Amino acid sequence: MKADDKCSCGESLKDEILRLKKERGAVILAHYYQHGDIQDLADFIGDSLALAQIARTLKEDVIVLCGVHFMGETAKILCPEKTVLVPDENAGCSLADSCQADDFARFINDHPGHTVLSYVNTSAAVKALTDIVVTSSNALSIVSKLPDETPIIFGPDRNLGSYINGVTGRNMVLWDGACHVHEQFSVEKLIELKKEYGDAEVLAHPECKKTVLMLADVVGSTAKLLKHSQESDCKKFIVATESGILHEMRKSCPDKEFIPVPPSDSSCGCNDCSYMKLNTLEKLRDCLKNMSPAITVDRDIAEKAVRPIERMLEMSK
Ligand code: 13P
Ligand code: SF4
Repeated sequence: MKADDKCSCGESLKDEILRLKKERGAVILAHYYQHGDIQDLADFIGDSLALAQIARTLKEDVIVLCGVHFMGETAKILCPEKTVLVPDENAGCSLADSCQADDFARFINDHPGHTVLSYVNTSAAVKALTDIVVTSSNALSIVSKLPDETPIIFGPDRNLGSYINGVTGRNMVLWDGACHVHEQFSVEKLIELKKEYGDAEVLAHPECKKTVLMLADVVGSTAKLLKHSQESDCKKFIVATESGILHEMRKSCPDKEFIPVPPSDSSCGCNDCSYMKLNTLEKLRDCLKNMSPAITVDRDIAEKAVRPIERMLEMSK
């Protein structure tokens, strides 16, 4: 069902969501990888860092986080007194799943004396084992702020970790995890696109493999890639990140052309995160109606996990 389609009572899905949002005193946050119709309806759209920063400033008692589970968990940890809803409770993250807390605890024990940095794409239990949380927006600058001699464990994304090692010349110990979406981009197809669109800039998310990042003009978070596409004089962009970002890129720059890099295992041009795309307008309506699924975080874990998140927010100012 589309946002403006009307049901038998004459109310459109969009109107129903806006009515329920008002009745519940809710605010809707959406990540750039959400379906375009959800992004269009949201009060705020952003990358992982922006969503965490915004969550802390809201006056509403109910936050609907249209994104994946770890994003809802981060908002709940930062705002424990609020109700945080995620439209589909199965909206997980393969990268977060690649790092289980028990295994990560053993990894930390095997590397005594290291400062532990975790990407925000992790469970609350992993964050509770962490010294500083980072996102793709601030990972490079936070690592650069730590003294050169500080030994660092970085988890769970090996691609982001090795990208930071490459830029900073550090030798962080990396957890061997990855995102199934960003690992998928085809280097061969990217090379073909670069030949076809010789005047295009290549934008890539740091979760991509090194072979893709080496071909990129700009490497950064979803927000950084979007901002660059808006500010650059270039008119064409080859984009190596989840396809949801194309919605806001095309919307804010209708005169520019955005070409997605296809995954290697498909003839289709898009690379969707199946978890992100579980959220739909209907599920957004239903979660407001039922006030469920709501995110819960164990109190002891939340008390430990909030410190490294707060540290990140402090270091990102
Ligand atoms: P951003 O922090 O760049 O929004 O990325 C989140 C994410 O899940 C990337 O796959
Ligand atoms: Fe997780 Fe990858 Fe989806 Fe981002 S794109 S939410 S890292 S599975």
